[in-house]
Amino acid sequence: MLKRCGRRLLLALAGALLACLLVLTADSAAARCRRARPARAAQLAGPQGLPGAWLGRRRRRPRALAREVHSLSEYFSLLHSRAQRRGPRPPGSPPATHPRPLAEPLAPRDVFIAVKTTKKFHRARLDLLLETWISRHKEMTFIFTDGEDEALARHTGNVVITNCSAAHSRQALSCKMAVEYDHFIESGRKWFCHVDDDNYVNLRALLRLLASYPHTRDIYIGKPSLDRPIQATERVSENKVRPVHFWFATGGAGFCISRGLALKMSPWASGGHFMNTAERIRLPDDCTIGYIVEALLGVPLIRSGLFHSHLENLQQVLTSELHEQVTLSYGMFENKRNAVHVKGPFSVEADPSRFRSIHCHLYPDTPWCPRTAIF
Ligand SMILES: *[C@@H]1O[C@H](CO)[C@@H](O)[C@H](O)[C@H]1NC(C)=O
Repeated sequence: MLKRCGRRLLLALAGALLACLLVLTADSAAARCRRARPARAAQLAGPQGLPGAWLGRRRRRPRALAREVHSLSEYFSLLHSRAQRRGPRPPGSPPATHPRPLAEPLAPRDVFIAVKTTKKFHRARLDLLLETWISRHKEMTFIFTDGEDEALARHTGNVVITNCSAAHSRQALSCKMAVEYDHFIESGRKWFCHVDDDNYVNLRALLRLLASYPHTRDIYIGKPSLDRPIQATERVSENKVRPVHFWFATGGAGFCISRGLALKMSPWASGGHFMNTAERIRLPDDCTIGYIVEALLGVPLIRSGLFHSHLENLQQVLTSELHEQVTLSYGMFENKRNAVHVKGPFSVEADPSRFRSIHCHLYPDTPWCPRTAIF
């Protein structure tokens, strides 16, 4: 009797702990998915009474919960791996000393880089990119925006007006990703990469990385912002949903997809299909890509530590390893200004994003880089 009571108590305790963990992780999962504010609120509230991401899990019946208790150790090991992640090098990041062998020579024109921006940020963000990394190979980069801009048109002919809403809603984000995808398919290029307007792309490192995979194979590479697959609910019919879990590369760090894989994504990504697919799981654009690739096509995300978003501590990127990094970023992280720490040649006041300094570090022959710079 006492023994049974003890077991029940233990089960109840473990159940409560598990519920706590789920609530905690649910919050962080939603936060790490691309922040589509109005959509996220709607998703968590469930406008049609349909559960959004994670809610399905929280509503599980007690019996299912009790069954899950047995895998509590799994949750602890996940937590442990999260703690380890805070170290200087995230797991999955290939050691800098082991570059991958070449699989296929790649020219800049083989790669289609989509930069997603909005008219409001043409001066504040995009000009900096045009001046730095985009200027090295203009033919690689296509700007996806929502407003005409003569000053931008003078810089590059590769500007696509998406006609999507300028809002930062889930639907608007998916609309833009759909336009990017269609333009890539039309371009006939070997690789599709998506970045945001706060990303610095190290073109040499990107070409080196992509050249280590054949573009005809199924390749989806980037950095997840979570340390486990995201749990979502997939709407399979008018009034039926089912849980689904998959990894996705966070859009804020940039990610790349091979042409071979992109073509297979077509039934769910081309034309108007991407928006419908996004509606099926009611998650933002980058999550929808992960859903199509991992959950629908069964192709696993290749995790790379060479992609960086502003949702990680960028001070941990070492200057000595800058040459290998594929993407960098800047912004705010945990209420602090977040940027790569690189000494000179420009001061933090003159170059708060550090992108100009990084660019001079990677391309010292740039005309506007101080000749006497010592790094
Ligand atoms: C946006 O609308 C303009 C004008 O109607 C059109 O020329 C352009 O092709 C549209 N862009 C896209 C990506 O559909």
